[in-house]
Amino acid sequence: ESPGDFAARLLAWYDRHGRHDLPWQKDVTPYRVWVSEIMLQQTQVGTVIPYFQRFMARFPDVHALAAATQDEVLHHWSGLGYYARGRNLHRAAQQLVDQYQGQFPRQRQALEALPGIGRSTAAAILALSGGQHEAILDGNVKRVLARHRAVQGWTGEAAVQKRLWALAEYLTPAERVADYTQAIMDLGATVCTRGRPRCDACPVADDCLARAQGLQSSLPTPRPR
Ligand code: ADE
Repeated sequence: ESPGDFAARLLAWYDRHGRHDLPWQKDVTPYRVWVSEIMLQQTQVGTVIPYFQRFMARFPDVHALAAATQDEVLHHWSGLGYYARGRNLHRAAQQLVDQYQGQFPRQRQALEALPGIGRSTAAAILALSGGQHEAILDGNVKRVLARHRAVQGWTGEAAVQKRLWALAEYLTPAERVADYTQAIMDLGATVCTRGRPRCDACPVADDCLARAQGLQSSLPTPRPR
């Protein structure tokens, strides 16, 4: 299968069935994408939306966030949990102002050097806000790819991670990168779900190796214990 064919099917599905009205999809900036991605790391979309709106009303840009006290940032975080995320966000905003005059660097490695930003979050910021050719690999994408290629083994293992990153890079198209990135996250969140995947609604079910082997509900392999 050609990578372009996978992307084309996903994009056609996204145009009809993807999510297009999330608050961070309006006025797309690196700052808004970054804050939304950090909030969405351990929290569902429906919970995040009102927090995101209040956060943006109080801290509309990276300068406002950097200038706030940590107390006030954490006050706006309270209810989302995982306070380390809020503290890292505040520290990273201060570094962006001190080191980059509040402009987001366009190098993935520079973003990855900021507190709380790993490779996938850095790539999501660049792809979603700038259309840069960067592959993401968050929990949803890991599940989609492990199933589509029937990748065995716990996704926490280095060898499995390496294979999934290689697949993610291979499949990410040069065109419509932002839409593709949102599309593969949406597929994982709404169709290729953890519990009972809805393969009948999946645009890439035809050549899904997990489905062909009846493994769609047992991949990715759970953490060994
Ligand atoms: N989960 C992580 N990133 C997301 C996004 N941009 N939209 C919806 N859910 C997400």
